[in-house]
Amino acid sequence: VVIHRADYAPPAFLIDSVALEFDLVPTRTIVRNTMRMRRNPGAVRAPRLELLGEQLELVSVAVNGAPHAAARAHEHGLTLDDVPDAFELTIESACAPAENTTLSGLYVSSGNFFTQCEAEGFRRITYFLDRPDVMTTYTVTLRADKTAYPVLLSNGNLIEEGDLPDGRHFAKWEDPFKKPSYLFALVAGQLVALEERIKSASGKEKLLQVWVEPHDLGKTRHAMESLIHSIRWDEERFGLELDLDRFMIVAVSDFNMGAMENKGLNVFNTKYVLANPETATDTDFANIEAVVGHEYFHNWTGNRVTCRDWFQLSLKEGLTVFRDQEFSADMAGGASNEAARAVKRIEDVRVLRQMQFAEDSGPMAHPVRPESYVEINNFYTMTVYEKGAEVVRMYQTLFGRDGFRRGMDLYFKRHDGQAVTCDDFRVALADANGRDLAQFEGWYSQAGTPRVSVWTNYDATALRYTVTLKQGYGDVAPAARETQTGPLLIPFAIGLIGRDGADMPLRLDGESAAAGTTRVLEFTGTEQTFTFVDVREEPLPSLLRNFSAPVVVEYDYTAGELAFLLAHDSDPFNRWEAGQRLATRELLALAARAAQDAPLSLDDSVVAAFARVLNDETLSPAFRELALMLPSEAYLAEQMAESNPAAVHRARQFVRKRLAAALRDDWLAIHERHQTPGAYAPTPEAAGHRGLKNLALAYLAELDDPAEAVKLASAQYAEANNMTDRAAALSALLAASTAQETPAAESALADFYRRFEKEPLVIDKWFALQATQRGTAARPVIEVVRNLMTHPAFNLKNPNRARSLIFSFCSANPAQFHAEDGSGYAFWAEQVIALDALNPQVAARLARALELWRRYTPVLREKMRAALEQVAAQAKSRDVREIVEKALV
Ligand code: ARG
Ligand code: ZN
Repeated sequence: VVIHRADYAPPAFLIDSVALEFDLVPTRTIVRNTMRMRRNPGAVRAPRLELLGEQLELVSVAVNGAPHAAARAHEHGLTLDDVPDAFELTIESACAPAENTTLSGLYVSSGNFFTQCEAEGFRRITYFLDRPDVMTTYTVTLRADKTAYPVLLSNGNLIEEGDLPDGRHFAKWEDPFKKPSYLFALVAGQLVALEERIKSASGKEKLLQVWVEPHDLGKTRHAMESLIHSIRWDEERFGLELDLDRFMIVAVSDFNMGAMENKGLNVFNTKYVLANPETATDTDFANIEAVVGHEYFHNWTGNRVTCRDWFQLSLKEGLTVFRDQEFSADMAGGASNEAARAVKRIEDVRVLRQMQFAEDSGPMAHPVRPESYVEINNFYTMTVYEKGAEVVRMYQTLFGRDGFRRGMDLYFKRHDGQAVTCDDFRVALADANGRDLAQFEGWYSQAGTPRVSVWTNYDATALRYTVTLKQGYGDVAPAARETQTGPLLIPFAIGLIGRDGADMPLRLDGESAAAGTTRVLEFTGTEQTFTFVDVREEPLPSLLRNFSAPVVVEYDYTAGELAFLLAHDSDPFNRWEAGQRLATRELLALAARAAQDAPLSLDDSVVAAFARVLNDETLSPAFRELALMLPSEAYLAEQMAESNPAAVHRARQFVRKRLAAALRDDWLAIHERHQTPGAYAPTPEAAGHRGLKNLALAYLAELDDPAEAVKLASAQYAEANNMTDRAAALSALLAASTAQETPAAESALADFYRRFEKEPLVIDKWFALQATQRGTAARPVIEVVRNLMTHPAFNLKNPNRARSLIFSFCSANPAQFHAEDGSGYAFWAEQVIALDALNPQVAARLARALELWRRYTPVLREKMRAALEQVAAQAKSRDVREIVEKALV
C-alpha cells in the first residue's frame, strides 16, 4: 500500500487525555489504556472508530465503563462501531516484549524494558490513534517486580511511587505537555544515574539524569556535560528554555538508530552516550555531543511543535540537524571563529555529498518533503535529515542569523503546541522577514541534486566582470524528474580573488559603492547574469562559498587555478573545496586509466599543491587533516559514468602511495610534532593534533617498505592513553600488513580483543576495523568477514554488532564488497534475508547497499541484479520489499 501526502485528512476523533497502566512482564505485559475521546469537530463524521494496533492480543474493551460488544480486533487494529460523540474508552491488551526482535514498540534489552515508538511503534504497545497530529496528555503507571526492575521511568514528572504486594512496586508519571504517541517512552530495569541539578535561564531548578547499566556509570560524564551545554546553547542562541522539571537520558545497547527524543525521557544507543578516553575516540566524543544536542533540541523543534503527518518529517529533522550542526560549530569555535566553524562545515558537507547526493541519484530519490511512501521507516533518510538541514541553513544564509532568529521566534509564537507542516515553517520565516518565499517551496518539493553551471567574462576596458549562472538537473531517475517543476531560489555566495590572492571589494552594477568581499547572490531564474563593476583586473571566482546551497557547481577551473585557490581563498570551505576538486579530477582521470589497465602517473605540481597546505602552519591541524584526506572511494565511484570500484581503489591507492613517498619526511615530522602528551582531553584542538598525526601514520603505512610505519604504529599502540591513538595505530598496522604480512598486526588485533572483551562498543570497532581492511589477493576480506560471523562475540540481533561487521563490509569497503566474482553480493543477500526475519528496519538499511546497481560496470551490474532479485523473491517485510522493488523497477 502506498501512502500519499495528498491524501491527508484530519483525524475523525480526538483524545483529550490518556491513562496507561503497565504490568511489566517480559513474556506477557498487560497494558490497560483509558482514553477520553470525542469526535473531531474539524473532520467529517466517520461511521466508526478505527484504532491502530499491531501484534497485540486484545483482552477487553469497555465504553463508558460497560463492555463493548461491537469491537473487532484485526491485523491492523481495532474497529468500534456505534460509539457516542464523547466517551471514555478502556482497552486491555497484551504484548510479548521478550520476543520482540524488531526493537520497535516495547522490548527487552539486557533484561531491561525499553520502548521505541517513532514512527509507528506505539501501535505495538496499545490500540491508539497512532498518528502525530493526535496530541494528548499522558498519565502512566508502571508496575513490575521490584528486584528485577527497581527503576521505573516514563515521560514528564514522577508524581507517586510505592510498594505493592508480592515483591512488586509501582511508579506513576505525568507529562504536563500534550504530545503525539511517537514521543511516548517507558524504561524499566536495573539502571543507575549520574545526576546534576542546574538552574535554567529563568532560575528554575532542573534535575538532569543520565541512566545506564551500573558498570557503565564511569562513562557518563561527557554526555552529562554535553546535555548541560545543549541547554545553555538553546537558551542563548534561540531563547528556548527547558520546560520540564526533570530531563532524562537513558542508554540502551540494542537500538535501531542513534537516539530518540521522547519527551523528557530521551533514549539513546549506548554508542552516543558512553565515553571515556580508553574506550571512545575523538569522533565518538564529538558525536555524543552532537547527538545529545540533537535530541535535546528536539524538545522545541519536534516536541513542542510537531509534525502534522510523516511527510513533514523534515520539519523537525532538517531543522534539528541544522541546530545540532550550529551547536557543534559554536562549541568548537564560538560564533566568530570562522576557521574552526569551517572544519565542522566541511565534515558535514562531505557526508552530504557522499551519501545524500548518491541517494538523490538513485531509485530512493525523494524530495525533502516526500510525496509518498510504503514504509515510513525507510524515509528517515539523508535527504530528509541532511538535505533538510541545508534547506534550513539557506534561510539563515538569506536572512542572516538575526533574521533567522526572528523567523524562529514567530514560528514558536504561532505554532507552539501544534502539529504543523513544512509550509507553516517557511511562511513563518518569510513573514518575519517581510519576504515572499513561494519559490523556495521548490526545495521541499523537488527531488534530485541541482546543478549550477557557471560562465564568467572579464571586460578589461570597461572593468566589468560578469558571472552567468544556469540551473538545472543532470540525469535523474524518472521519479525525481516528475517532481522538478521550475527554477529554485538558490543563495549563491561568491567572492572574487585578485592576483595577489586577496579578496576584491564587491560592487554590483547599479550599486553606488563597493561593500564586502562575499556576496550572497539570489539566483532565481533558469539563467541569470550578475555584473560586477570596478573590477581592476581579471579575478578568480570563489564560487558557492561555505557551500551556500546543496548543489553541484560546474566551472572549468584549470589545475593551476585550483592550486591557487587552495593556497589563497579566504573562505576556508572553498580552500578545502579547491583541493578536493583538484584531487577528484586527478583521481577520476587515473581511475579511467586504471580501468583500461593503463600505467598511472601523477604530476608533481599536484603533489606540490598538497605539500604546501600540509606544511602551512597558519592553518589548523584539523583543517590540514581534512585538506589532505582524499575524496572517498564511494564518492569517486559515483562520479564515474560507470562505477568501477576496483579501478577507483587502484587509482586512489596510487595517489596515496605517491603522497606517502613524496612527502615521507613531512609525514614523519608531523607524526612527531603533533603528539598530545599528558592527560587526554577531547577538545577540538587536541583532536585536531591527533587527527593530523594519525593521518600521517596512515600515509606512512602506505609506503612500499612499511617498516618505519610498523615501528611507529606498534609503539603508538602500546603506549596510547586513549582510543583515538590506539585504534589509529591498529588500523595503520592492518594497512601496513597489506604490503607485507606483519606479525605486529595479528598480535595487536588479538591484544585489542583481550583488552576490551567486556566493552561491546570497542568490540564493535574491532569488527569494523577488520571488515573495512584492504585485504590481499591471497586473503580477500569476504573470508575474514565470513569467519568473523562465527565468532562467539558476533550477534546478528544486536544492530550495533550487525552494523560493525556486515554494514561496514557492504557499505564501507567498496573495493572488496564489489569483488568481480559476486561473493560480496551473495553475502549481502544472505544477510538481508536473515535480518528481515528479525528486524525489518535494520534489514531495509542493509538492503540499500545495492540500490545504485544500475550505475556500475556491466559485469557487476548483472550480479547485483541477480542478488536483488533473490532478495525480492524472499523478503517478507514491507520495509525490505519497498527498497528492493524500487531498485528493480
Ligand atoms: N527522531 C529520531 C532522531 O532523529 C530518530 C528516529 C528514527 N526512527 C526511525 N523509525 N527510523 O533523533
Ligand atoms: Zn532527530
